[in-house]
Amino acid sequence: MKKIIIFSVVLGCVIYSCSPTLYKPVTIDAVKQKQLNTGRIIYVDHCSSCHNLHLPKEFNVEGWKKHLDTMQVKAKISDTEKQLILEYLTFKP
Ligand code: HEC
Repeated sequence: MKKIIIFSVVLGCVIYSCSPTLYKPVTIDAVKQKQLNTGRIIYVDHCSSCHNLHLPKEFNVEGWKKHLDTMQVKAKISDTEKQLILEYLTFKP
């Protein structure tokens, strides 16, 4: 029983400390904000199953476009979903 508690605490800490690292964009434009949030969710949901998530700052717009085209097939996402991920990854406040 004790082991389970320790395990849960450790797991909780890991989840808590991992989640805020992925940048959350903020904008005053409500429509854009919704779009960015959706893009972030799709990104986390579809792109973290095979490898760690790459941070938005790792590539520029051209780099992301290229990688997203390659990964679209692997992640089985639609063009719209790909576009939303791109907007999220390349958003400059
Ligand atoms: C089915 C597994 C799988 C999924 C899902 C997946 N990837 Fe990948 N990804 C890979 C593999 C394997 C590589 C390395 C080999 C390659 O480049 O093809 C890679 C490489 C990458 C790279 C290149 C890193 C570099 O330094 O060159 C980026 C960026 C990337 N993925 C982003 C994404 C994004 C964004 C998504 C979601 C749309 C995604 N991946 C979903 C398997 C996957």
